[in-house]
Parts: sequence; C-alpha cells; structure tokens
Amino acid sequence: MLPANFLWGASLSAHQTEGAATEDGKSQSVQDVRQRNPKIADFSVAADHYHRYAEDINLLAKAGIKALRISIPWTRIIPDGLGAVNPLAIKHYHHVFNEMHNQGIEPMVTTYHFDLPQVLQEQGGWIKQSTVTAYEKYVKVLFKEFGSEVKYWLTINEPNVMLLADRKILGFSYTHQERYQAFYNLMIAEKKAFQACHQLCPQAQIGPVPNISYVYPGSAKPQDIRAAEYFNAIRNWAYLDFSVRGIINPIFQNYLHQTGIDLKIKAEDEELVQQNFPDFLGMNYYTSVTVEYPKAGQNRTSGVSDQQSEDVYEKGFYKGLTNPYLSKNDFNWTVDPLGLQTTLEVVNDRYHLPIYITENGLGAYDELTADYQVHDDYRINYLSAHLQSIQQAVDAGVPVQGYLPWSAIDLVSVHEGMKKRYGLIYVDRTEQDLKTLARYPKDSYFWYQQVIKNNGVNKDAKTV
Ligand code: BG6
Repeated sequence: MLPANFLWGASLSAHQTEGAATEDGKSQSVQDVRQRNPKIADFSVAADHYHRYAEDINLLAKAGIKALRISIPWTRIIPDGLGAVNPLAIKHYHHVFNEMHNQGIEPMVTTYHFDLPQVLQEQGGWIKQSTVTAYEKYVKVLFKEFGSEVKYWLTINEPNVMLLADRKILGFSYTHQERYQAFYNLMIAEKKAFQACHQLCPQAQIGPVPNISYVYPGSAKPQDIRAAEYFNAIRNWAYLDFSVRGIINPIFQNYLHQTGIDLKIKAEDEELVQQNFPDFLGMNYYTSVTVEYPKAGQNRTSGVSDQQSEDVYEKGFYKGLTNPYLSKNDFNWTVDPLGLQTTLEVVNDRYHLPIYITENGLGAYDELTADYQVHDDYRINYLSAHLQSIQQAVDAGVPVQGYLPWSAIDLVSVHEGMKKRYGLIYVDRTEQDLKTLARYPKDSYFWYQQVIKNNGVNKDAKTV
C-alpha cells in the first residue's frame, strides 16, 4: 500500500518543452547550439510550454496531479552565466509557481537539466572549477527568489548519463580525463547546492537526481560478475556515494586508478563534502542494464551511452548486451519493471533515504485519431507495471514517497525528436510542422487520473 500522502506527479524539463529560445533575454545553452539531425525537431519552439504553461498546469491539475517537476534554465536567470540576474525570468517563474499553487500543485524544481549556458561551455564548462563558482551563484539566486514557493529542489539532472552519453546529450565528447574532472566538479557543485539550499531555505528539501538502473551480469561467469560490479560503481554508486556518503566509491576509484586517473577529495573540499547531504533521493529509471566482460577481439571505440545497454563498452572492464529475457520498446530500449523493484531495494539498502521517482516513462509513436484521442495502451501497460513494482518495493519497506513519470506533456526527446512521445498529454506538432500545438489528453492521462484517485494501481491491472 502506498502512503496516504504519496506525491503523485509528472515531470518535464525546460529545454525540451518551453521553446521561446530567444525570448525575454534568454541566452543560448549547449542544447540550443549542439549539432542535431536536421530532420528532427530542435528546441526553439519545443512544446511552447513557456507560453502555454497555464493551460498545461490546468490540465494536469484536472488529472489530480499534486506535484509537477520542471527545470529552470540557467540561461534565462543569468544569461551571461555569471553576471546580472534577468528580472523577466524571475517574474516568469513567479507566475509559473503562482499558477501551480492556485491549482493545488507543488513545484519540484531541477536547477539544471543538461542546459549549461553556452558562454560557460566556451570557457571549458564543467571541466573548469569556475563553472562550479558560477553554478553556486546561480542556485543562490534561485533559492533566494523562490525559496518560499518551492518545497522540493533537485540539483543536477542525471550527471551520470550526461557524462557517459556525452555525445548524444551534449553533442561533444569528453576525453577520459575530462569526464572525471567534470564528475568531480559536478559533485562539488551539487554539495554547494545542498549547502546553499539548507542555509537559504531551511523549510525546503533538496536531493540529487541521477538515473539509477541496476546493472545485471550477462552470466554467472566470475568475470561477468566483476564487469557488472564495475559498471554499477561507474554508472550508479559513484554519484550517490559522493552525494549521500561523502566518499569516492572504492570500486570506481580503483577503476579510475587502473585507467590512469587518481581521484581524491581535495583537502579544501573535505568539509563541504562531509557536512552537506541530501534530504531525499530523486531517481530516474527507464530500464535495467546488462553487461559482460568484453571478449577478445571485441575492439570497439570506448564509449558509453545509456538505456540501450548494448551501446556501453570499455576495453578490459565491461561490454553491454541486450538482455534476452526482456522485451523492447519502439525505440529499442528494453523494458524491465521488476528491475525497478530490484533497483529500489538496492538503493534503499545502500542509502536509507526517502525516494521520489522523478522520471519513468515510455517513448513511443503515438497517433492522434480524427476525433482527437490517443489510444496509448502500451504506455498504460508500461506505467502500470512499473507502479506495481513500486508498490511491491514499498510493501518490502522501501520509502518511496512520490512518482513523477516522464512526461507530463509531449516534449522533444533528447536526441530522437518529437516522434518519440512520452507525454500523458499529446502536443499537436510533428518534427517539422508546428501545426496547432494544441493539447489533447491521451488515454494514459485518464488512466493516471484514476490511479491517483485510488492511490495506486490495482494488482490485476494489465501489464506489459
Ligand atoms: C532522461 C532525461 O535521461 O531520459 C530526459 O533526463 C530524457 O531529459 C529521458 O528525455 C528520455 O530520453 P530520450 O533520449 O528518449 O529523450
């Protein structure tokens, strides 16, 4: 049984929904300038949420949603990255939060969702300590301005996936050395956000928001078990161990050492790292990952990407493979609801903090019928199966306190455009044609409305 005050919500990010890419003083982020396939939608209009936020919030409130996760773009608040605060942006988000509160919706705000100001990227981005200083200044502005309106803050969206799938998400690749320099800076930036949030808005709570997927070994071969241990440490525990335990995960540290990097917490950062911790964990989950020890002759370029686990590879450590026991979605991602229960139980065992599922959802080709309906049974099946898994984890003692599926409305996928739809609400546009941008609730929206009313899914509900 889910707790009576379970936080039923939905999630969005700014650059994938807002559009208005050059309005009200916004500068360019790395997302606005990265090279994209010209055949797929860019972020300039996206779902036009910047102009239609009131309509979207209204529709979500009608579904009974109690929390909406959005992100605020740094490029709107401090357009040149480090200097003056933009009053138009401050005013805009006061309006957004006001609208949410009027509709009985609690905002959950991510300070940063893959959208570094391009001007800071040009100065080195996350590999530079100066970006940490700029981020600290930026989040202090958020906490001072919005601290009385926002109870739930999330720091940096999926730093793990951002670093591992850098080319797909950011449009450029880090060298191995740079990736772990950026890791350290991102983790220190996050600690500074915990500290500033607790100082400036003591009534609010803050948590990290990595993408956590338990990594399975491809077989019981001892080498495959070690491959999974390594990838679990590199992909999952390195991030949460730093945030929650204030340590560099030892398996991760040993992996770095073997690849020529000695990573230690710097003496001047010790106090910050050891004294600032999250109040809860935000956790994004789409599927599990399966790896084996790379066989001789499997010489691929080192490279990691996520969700499609066959893409991950590092010579001498791990190689991703498709788990033959799992089905796949339209976009070749495996589907593993039971993996969510396993992941939650392991995360709880390691960290003992309240957990909010801040993303979980199905990217699929949806079709709007002539009478403006979307019959997305496949999405209902996916969400229903994952919710059942969450309920089982809660029954097994895991303190999951909220579910905010991805995504509230259709949005532009990170690298697969508009055709890969995630929303509970359909947005009428295609990759190239902006059409009406009108909103139409899908079958999954009405299903979710019922789930919220019943505070959970019925065990006999359909599953994938
Ligand atoms: C998560 C991101 O990694 O996955 C979202 O936080 C993203 O921003 C989601 O949209 C789904 O990935 P994709 O590539 O299908 O958009």
